[in-house]
This record gives sequence, C-alpha cells and structure tokens, in this order.
Amino acid sequence: MSRPSVLVTGATGKTGRRIADQLTTLGHPVVRASRQGDQPFHWAEPASWPAALRGVDAAYLSYYPDLAAPEAPTVVEKFTAAARAAGVRKLVLLSGRGETNAGRCEAIVADSGLTYGIVRASWFNQNFTEGHLLGPVLAGTVALPAGEVAEPFVDVDDVADVAVAVLTDRRHDGRTYDVTGPRLLTFAQAAAEIAAASGRAVGYLPVTAEQFHLALVSQVGPDYARLLTDLCVEVFDGRNASLGDGVERALGRAPRDFAAFCRQAAAAGAWQQ
Ligand SMILES: NC(=O)c1ccc[n+]([C@@H]2O[C@H](COP(=O)([O-])OP(=O)(O)OC[C@H]3O[C@@H](n4cnc5c(N)ncnc54)[C@H](OP(=O)(O)O)[C@@H]3O)[C@@H](O)[C@H]2O)c1
Repeated sequence: MSRPSVLVTGATGKTGRRIADQLTTLGHPVVRASRQGDQPFHWAEPASWPAALRGVDAAYLSYYPDLAAPEAPTVVEKFTAAARAAGVRKLVLLSGRGETNAGRCEAIVADSGLTYGIVRASWFNQNFTEGHLLGPVLAGTVALPAGEVAEPFVDVDDVADVAVAVLTDRRHDGRTYDVTGPRLLTFAQAAAEIAAASGRAVGYLPVTAEQFHLALVSQVGPDYARLLTDLCVEVFDGRNASLGDGVERALGRAPRDFAAFCRQAAAAGAWQQ
C-alpha cells in the first residue's frame, strides 16, 4: 500500500527541510512548498494554496514569519478551511510555546474538524546556526531583551522527529506535544557553551526592548523588527522557564542536549565563517 502524501510548508526552512527529507526517506510522496520551493506557495497569496493542497493526505503547517504575527490566526483559519475543502485528512501545526497568538492558532486547528496534532516548540538551538542569531554569534555578541531568563532550548532535529511521528502515526492524533530540550539555560550560559565548543569569543548582552528594536530595524526592516521585538517582550518573562516532556512522550527517548548540539555544530563548521 502506498504511503500517505504530505504537504510540507516552509519546506526550505529549518524544520520543514528536515521533515520533508525524513518523509521522503520513509517513502511518503512529499509536496515541498514555499515561495522558492519545488511547489510555489505564499502565505499572503491564498490563490497559491489549492495547487499545493491537491491530492495530499496530511499537511505540516509552519507559518512564516511567526504565529505571533497579528494576521496569523486569520490566515491559519483560511488555510485550515482550504485544506478541509481539498480533502486533507490531518493537519500538524508547528506552534510557539507561550505565545498568545499561537494559542489562538492551536485552537483553530483543534476545532477545524480535521484530525490534527500540535508540536509546540520552545526556542530552537538552530537559531544560533541557521537562524537570526548566527550573525550575532559570528560577530561575538548576542544582544537580546531577555535579561537573565532561562529557556529550555530545543533542537530542531527533535522538533522534526516529533512532527514526522505525528504526521505519520495515528497514535499521536489529537495530541499536543510541548517540545523542549532537557535543560534550562540563560542566554549567557548558551553563549558560553557556544564559545567553549567553537573556540570563539561569544558573549551575551542583555538589552532593552527599545535597544533591540532599534538595532534590528536596519537589518530586517520595520515590520519584522516590530514582530520580533514584541515576541521577545511577550515570551522572555520566565513563562517558558520549565521543561516540557513532548519529545519523551512522542518518541520514547530523551531530547538532545544543547551541549551536544554545540559540539556537532562546531565540528560541522557552523561557526567557522
Ligand atoms: N525559531 C524558533 O526558535 C521557533 C520556536 C518555536 C516556533 N517557531 C516557529 O517556526 C516557524 C518557522 O519555521 P522554521 O524555523 O522551520 O522556518 P525558517 O527556517 O524560518 O524558514 C522559513 C520557511 O518559510 C518559507 N517562507 C518564508 N516566507 C514565506 C511566505 N511568505 N510564504 C510561504 N512560505 C514562506 C521559507 O522559504 P521561501 O523563502 O522559499 O519562501 C522557508 O522555507 C514560525 O512559525 C515560528 O513561529 C520558531
């Protein structure tokens, strides 16, 4: 019997690429969707959705720029309706831990009438290698309005493993998995671990939200700078300073530790540029 086909949104991104590759290896037909991906797809252009949804059994929903964006619940609701109309059976949502708007999107998916699963992730380790914190690491200073808050950084490989399990195994239907790493770390501690593994001078600089926003505007433009700043203000109040058991519950194994991530990233040359 052929394996269910899966639409992966954000298929060139940190989670989507890993998920699409794993599903392909498992023998699932995969539609890799994004603006530049194999299947052209744009969150702001609903006319691009039906072609991506055609004939797929399940969909992985990784919204860009973030479920914290004000328009996200409206877009997710529309996409959910389009998926239902296209005959999609299951939706798996990548959600953000402790984000109010992400909670709204989770409720929309849960109430959609479709079979669903939710992968609710804390801050990714790979923000430091593939995301917006790579530049600051290479420049030697990670400046964030995070004070001394502790975060349970999660490895994107674990996020992808959980998402693939939820997409492919009915035992996870209707479940919400809080996926975190196994340890709380402040950003100062995370920077110190990166420094130790990479041999580079890397430090953490706590800044105010205003300073963070000002520095970001010239790099990413006003809209994304506002979104990231508001997101930081919302989540860096200690609300995520606890461990989740999603990796253990979904996969029956422990999550990957930040130190292992640092060792592997350093060995792969992620911080040698
Ligand atoms: N970073 C974290 O710590 C963290 C933690 C929890 C949850 N999340 C969630 O993770 C999601 C992002 O996932 P990710 O980190 O795997 O992706 P990512 O690495 O940020 O890459 C973004 C992906 O989305 C595509 N994309 C960008 N703009 C798009 C648009 N307008 N329409 C359609 N596709 C678009 C990109 O490909 P193209 O350029 O080809 O379009 C790419 O495939 C967000 O919803 C965020 O809330 C992130």
